[in-house]
Amino acid sequence: MLIRDILKNKPAGSSLEVRGWVRTRRDTRGLSFIEVNDGSCLGNLQIIASEEHLADYGNTIKHITTGCSVMFSGLLAESPAKGQDVELRATRCEIIGPAPADSYPLQKKRHSFEFLREIAHLRPRTNSIGAVMRIRSRLSHAVHNFFADQGFFQIHTPIITTSDCEGAGEMFTVTTLEPGRTANTTAPYGDDFFGRQAGLTVSGQLEAEAYAMALGRVYTFGPTFRAENSNTSRHLAEFWMIEPEIAFCDLEGDMELAEKFLKHLIREITSSCPEDLELFTRFVDVNLEARLASVMDHDFARVTYTEAVKILEECGREFTFPVSWGNDLQSEHERFLTEEVFKKPLIVTGYPAAIKPFYMRVNDDGRTVAAMDILFPEIGEIIGGSQREERFEVLQARMTAQGIDTAAYNWYLDLRRYGSAPHAGFGAGFERIVQFVTGMTNIRDVIPFPRTPGNADY
Ligand code: 4AD
Ligand code: MG
Repeated sequence: MLIRDILKNKPAGSSLEVRGWVRTRRDTRGLSFIEVNDGSCLGNLQIIASEEHLADYGNTIKHITTGCSVMFSGLLAESPAKGQDVELRATRCEIIGPAPADSYPLQKKRHSFEFLREIAHLRPRTNSIGAVMRIRSRLSHAVHNFFADQGFFQIHTPIITTSDCEGAGEMFTVTTLEPGRTANTTAPYGDDFFGRQAGLTVSGQLEAEAYAMALGRVYTFGPTFRAENSNTSRHLAEFWMIEPEIAFCDLEGDMELAEKFLKHLIREITSSCPEDLELFTRFVDVNLEARLASVMDHDFARVTYTEAVKILEECGREFTFPVSWGNDLQSEHERFLTEEVFKKPLIVTGYPAAIKPFYMRVNDDGRTVAAMDILFPEIGEIIGGSQREERFEVLQARMTAQGIDTAAYNWYLDLRRYGSAPHAGFGAGFERIVQFVTGMTNIRDVIPFPRTPGNADY
């Protein structure tokens, strides 16, 4: 039986069997208290092993060390001790896999997240990383439920692609060529597996747009890859992104959906994972639950890029990166706006066309685009989205101006040649959502095996 169900239903009096990993063992004369965790929940089940009820107690007990895997069966009883309602009085015990005490890296004390990153294969056995990953899984379900309820279809967009959606040159190349073996100089990837340069996707948006122009409301939720050399607590080279795309929708509809989406996820986690969340409130961030509640209960603030620049210019604060109209907001600016000026989630709209990708719809002023970024306190940008350019000529001119080979994107232009329609969408960084919900400060601690510059272990 899963420990989660035992601790929830407390079926005292029943005989049952559990399997899991030993967290601690404490002995008094002829009696041992063993905490077992099976990963199904944060809580451990206390096992009482005694000389009286367990055959070969003396021989077995010394091999039950922190980290070993075990099976215990026995009778569940109400516990007389403080700290738990029930305990399992063991009548049978089997050590499935020993864990030598002199070399097992996870000891009973608290380890730093930095240390745990070095043993990323064992860190899921800690309370904190276990709780992060249970919450991550719940959030993933909540994402699918949210979109299914609103009539969206999930589209599995390709991971290997020849389109560089963001146009930022951050694609990892996918090749089967040996290093230096690109004899064909006129078409350097002509001999390669795909006959042209292909890479790992930086976004499923362009392909999602094709399906939005047929199924109306779609979303893609998958791994995304960016070869950007940012060693920060909010960037990964491999991260997961949720990208809805909606036909017959403008920027206003896009922002409303995005706000509803984020609130739904937070509501879902606060109601379904109270125990894991409480752990983060206790050990990671005392203000966590209050902050989550405040996001659910208030409208997000809104400001245009132009207004935001004015606020930053006039605030009297010295920033590392200068602020001026036409430059992108840096994370120090974003965090100042959301944490100190607005003090809540903030939607920034109307960025300069020159700093945004080709697919964003040009506003009537000709110099800004119908873009929106959602900034969260402590996190910065959590969502980036826009209304898409649905006008063929405008899109083609913008692509040419940005030096994009329009022939390679002829299929994308077809979506504007045939039955074009206003549409919009956004991309939500899944790990940044997990970070916000748990209060974890480093993005490397909310994904099982983080990939960052110089690190692709496991
Ligand atoms: O703002 P971005 O680059 O937008 C797009 O890729 C659009 N094509 C999305 C769309 O409209 N369909 O990325 C979207 C979000 C960011 O707001 C951020 O939360 C996350 O993806 N993100 C990253 N998360 C972790 N590591 C990175 N290196 C990230 N880069 C972006
Ligand atoms: Mg962005």
